[in-house]
Amino acid sequence: MPLTGCMSVLGPRNGSGRLADTIVGKKSITLTARERNVALVPGKATPTWLYNGELFPVLRMKQGETLDVTLRNELPEHSSIHWHGIRGPNGMDGVPYLTQMPVLPGEVFRYHFVPPDAGTFFFHPHCDTATQLGRGLVGALVVEEKQQTFDDDLVLVLKDWRVDAEGRFLPFSTPSGASRAGTFGEWRTVNGLQSPRIKLQASNARVRLINADATRISQIGIAGGSARVIAIDGNAVEPFPLDTWLLGPAMRLDLALDAGAETHLVDYFAPSPVTLATLTFQGASSISGQTPSASPKIQTEFSEPWRHTLELGAGLEGNADISPQPITLPDGKTIDLADSLCLATDTFWTLDGKAWPGRSHSTLPLPLFSFARGQNVILDLENTTSRAHPIHIHGHTMTVLAASLLHRPLHRADTVLVLPNERVTVGFVADNPGNWMIHCHVIEHQETGMMGWFRVS
Ligand code: C2O
Ligand code: CU
Repeated sequence: MPLTGCMSVLGPRNGSGRLADTIVGKKSITLTARERNVALVPGKATPTWLYNGELFPVLRMKQGETLDVTLRNELPEHSSIHWHGIRGPNGMDGVPYLTQMPVLPGEVFRYHFVPPDAGTFFFHPHCDTATQLGRGLVGALVVEEKQQTFDDDLVLVLKDWRVDAEGRFLPFSTPSGASRAGTFGEWRTVNGLQSPRIKLQASNARVRLINADATRISQIGIAGGSARVIAIDGNAVEPFPLDTWLLGPAMRLDLALDAGAETHLVDYFAPSPVTLATLTFQGASSISGQTPSASPKIQTEFSEPWRHTLELGAGLEGNADISPQPITLPDGKTIDLADSLCLATDTFWTLDGKAWPGRSHSTLPLPLFSFARGQNVILDLENTTSRAHPIHIHGHTMTVLAASLLHRPLHRADTVLVLPNERVTVGFVADNPGNWMIHCHVIEHQETGMMGWFRVS
């Protein structure tokens, strides 16, 4: 592949392993999506697609402030930004053909809204995602509580890369991967580095883990220090000690770390544990910081719910029915033609026995559900397959109420990992009007059928 532009060694600011923060909330910014050659594999150029030429930009703001981001698309194909986990207005959700028109090459789109919740979020495109995310288009959004209670605050983005030893991209999706657990990256990184060593400024640190990988589920644990889980998908929980936690694609975990001299972040999912990063701290333990003693109110009662078993299935029983009605976008535009970039290619996976339609169809499927605003909903996510599926809903946060295999503490999430042959019960209030996606966040599963949408009106 011919290389364009100059090659530069990426990001790890002064070799610190920390990602660059951009303070938003008081000012508007532009994120330009474009190609840049970077040396992921030392000495080799990889033609990544990045926002502002930066690896995993971290946008930081305070709760209550306005996020004002203009996407400028300098890619050869259309794109958009989905603000994952944000219960924002539908027109800002960044799903081409469902909430906005795609942002064509050369175009701009302004995202402008107040994220209601504090927490650790991230953002990524929502079309041709295996390719666009695979090439690096992803960033973190941190909405800080008004009061900061930690002496250090570290974002760690987990993402593998489909590159060969020369740094060339390999196919982002393969039929054998898509029909199984997904196609895994060859080059594992945290903040773009292999097993980085990162200096903490204090022993009392908040570590925000974001699994931005398209495929890999990590089983997060630590060695050489202790940590308590303080938030899941950005939602505060009653703090509990971290043993290990299964972190599927798109899931986040906030830890209150009490660091030792060397604290290792470890993935115990692999046959032999993999050290993802080593956090080092020198000096006396800091005492100024404290864990938020949050006792978050988590809704567990959902009165008069609409209750439904949503089957996460494999094999093609049939494509979803195509909507006979054109979709009206939140800005009032009406569209009825979807672009093939957003459609499934092969179909291997289903929701309720229906696959998101393949290339032969040109419009959106019918919604899986329609709710009157305010409806309480309980979904039994029933996985009848032999693979795990991180199921994500847009615009809402679910309470994870019960699970048949793996016990989870009471928490809220926007993405819940449903293990093979597991049934996980979630509840939420359908209180955010609009058209919202629900899908598996193993991107190849999403793009080969395990995706649908619902309407709240
Ligand atoms: Cu993070 Cu519908 O996506
Ligand atoms: Cu899946």
